[in-house]
Amino acid sequence: MPIKFPFTKNKKHTSSQPLGLDFNHLPEHVAIIMDGNGRWAKNRGMPRIAGHKEGMSVVKKVVRHASDIGVKVLTLYAFSTENWKRPKNEVDFLMKLPVDFLNTYLPELIEKNVQVQTIGDFGVLPQHTQKAVNEAIERTKDNDGLILNFALNYGSRFEMVNAVKQIALRVNQGELNPEEINEDLFSSELYTKDLIEPDLLIRTSGEQRLSNFLLWQLAYAEFWFTEVYWPDFDEGLFEKALYDYQNRKRRYGGV
Ligand code: FPP
Repeated sequence: MPIKFPFTKNKKHTSSQPLGLDFNHLPEHVAIIMDGNGRWAKNRGMPRIAGHKEGMSVVKKVVRHASDIGVKVLTLYAFSTENWKRPKNEVDFLMKLPVDFLNTYLPELIEKNVQVQTIGDFGVLPQHTQKAVNEAIERTKDNDGLILNFALNYGSRFEMVNAVKQIALRVNQGELNPEEINEDLFSSELYTKDLIEPDLLIRTSGEQRLSNFLLWQLAYAEFWFTEVYWPDFDEGLFEKALYDYQNRKRRYGGV
């Protein structure tokens, strides 16, 4: 069972006792590797997909809470370019999750002023997945609350190699001088070009690695790990991560 921490449901609150979370200095962009669904299910003698289903409910809780307290961007690693190696039934299930999620939750996202976005190689996903996500993107495009950014068929190395190809093409066509290539230009060729960089990375399930997630963008992020499996994650642990983040000193290489 996860440890329960007191949390606040309403962004009007300026502190949450006894955590003392400062709602005026939240990380603006939180990225999450939602890991441990399979182990959670296995521990209960259930199929892996039961863990993913439960994981989806936690996505709802965390999105709701992030929106309520005023986080600006929440990026969720929902499917990596490596996840295609999983058994077909699991991949099919994972591809249906965004459809189920948006079918049941899109009205609330709209009501909460959430804007849905995605990063990743979207065009190769099954038609039903693309259709549901595109509808959500279209119907929330004018919202200016929380940006809910799903990493779907996302791989950081693939993203960076594509960025290099785009830049090489522009150099080849005489549009760009190699001298003009800098960090900003490189960033502008990534899926995340319109987003602020993540301030905080959360990974559940005890694993402490990046698994090809936002390798460039997380350069200065704070990392926060918990042993808790994603289906047991909740708003209290989310606030605990934010609280710990607020107690870190970010120096960006300075003193
Ligand atoms: C990693 O756990 C989890 C995933 C690959 C999928 C994550 C997806 C969700 C939490 C649901 C997403 C919901 C929406 C709306 C898109 P794992 O399967 O690798 O767990 P294990 O390491 O214990 O096997």
